[in-house]
Amino acid sequence: MKILVTGAAGFIASHVANAYVQAGHEAVVIDDLSRGAKRNVNFKCRFHECDIRDREAMERIFRAEKPEIVNHHAAQMDVRRGVREPLFDAQVNILGSLNVIEAAVAHGAKRFIYAATAGAGYGEPKRMPVPEDYPINPITPYGISKHTVEHYLFTFQFLYGLEYVVLRYGNVYGPGQSSQGEAGVFAIFSEQMLAGVQPVIYGDGSKVRDYVYISDVVAANLIALERGSNEIFNIGSGVETTDLEVFQRVRDLLGKTVEPMYVARRPGEIDKICLDISKAARLLGWKPQVSLTEGARRTVGYFQQTAAAVAAGN
Ligand SMILES: NC(=O)c1ccc[n+]([C@@H]2O[C@H](COP(=O)([O-])OP(=O)(O)OC[C@H]3O[C@@H](n4cnc5c(N)ncnc54)[C@H](O)[C@@H]3O)[C@@H](O)[C@H]2O)c1
Repeated sequence: MKILVTGAAGFIASHVANAYVQAGHEAVVIDDLSRGAKRNVNFKCRFHECDIRDREAMERIFRAEKPEIVNHHAAQMDVRRGVREPLFDAQVNILGSLNVIEAAVAHGAKRFIYAATAGAGYGEPKRMPVPEDYPINPITPYGISKHTVEHYLFTFQFLYGLEYVVLRYGNVYGPGQSSQGEAGVFAIFSEQMLAGVQPVIYGDGSKVRDYVYISDVVAANLIALERGSNEIFNIGSGVETTDLEVFQRVRDLLGKTVEPMYVARRPGEIDKICLDISKAARLLGWKPQVSLTEGARRTVGYFQQTAAAVAAGN
């Protein structure tokens, strides 16, 4: 199949595009390199460097490529930037996505896979684990903009028959992740400890997140090529993990003794989230395979290797 993947110079979608290529599909990539890097784009993918806000470019690329499936990961994904610049956040995440969806419909794509957020969508849930039908109450512009696209997909399916699969991710972590994203703490703690900087924890370390390892997210994107039509799925681990636990795991894996510096919580950060992932198990046959222990080992190992390579001047 021919699949157009947006945002595939970035963390998650570069792994997804690699998996599509490995599975024998033809993958085409769009990314503006605002955050991603060209070296992350699989050399077997045709690469279009452009901004999803550029309507004419979307039209041109989709007319030339005519993908059967669109996998949309490109986004402004810095929650804090969204708080500072809500208009920019909406321009990329809502209007940019709408350009991609409209071009997909206009040029005959059959299916649209959308990387949504669970961590920033449900707001501060009153009960956990949180199922997909829990009320959406985002407390940040990023949560609003990411969720709005789900409504367009529902409506475009109704109007034009574009099948969609929405994957609402928990906090995705793994090799190549950025320290800016929703699951940044693995990267932040690793990079800071390796640089000899005392890591900062916002709050008292008790904030709870649902971490899902990158290869499990990739597996969900592979399954979504064929299953889960017109459905929304939480893609997480269903396991509650505190900031302090991540800190301790990273510290133990690096063999450090440093203590965290605790500072005030930042606005826009929820207290606790953990996802009910039973719908994905039931309808997609998807379950996370990588434990936090194994995922942390692989992720911290990656940052160790990266730091060693930098130190060696490679
Ligand atoms: N990382 C997480 O934990 C997490 C959780 C929930 C949802 N998501 C979603 O998954 C997707 C990928 O996240 P990621 O962590 O890989 O982030 P990332 O920043 O590594 O990847 C996003 C990519 O989109 C590109 N991009 C940004 N603006 C663009 C634009 N206007 N035009 C074209 N390309 C543009 C960036 O250059 C980058 O390569 C995002 O949609 C994000 O909202 C991520």
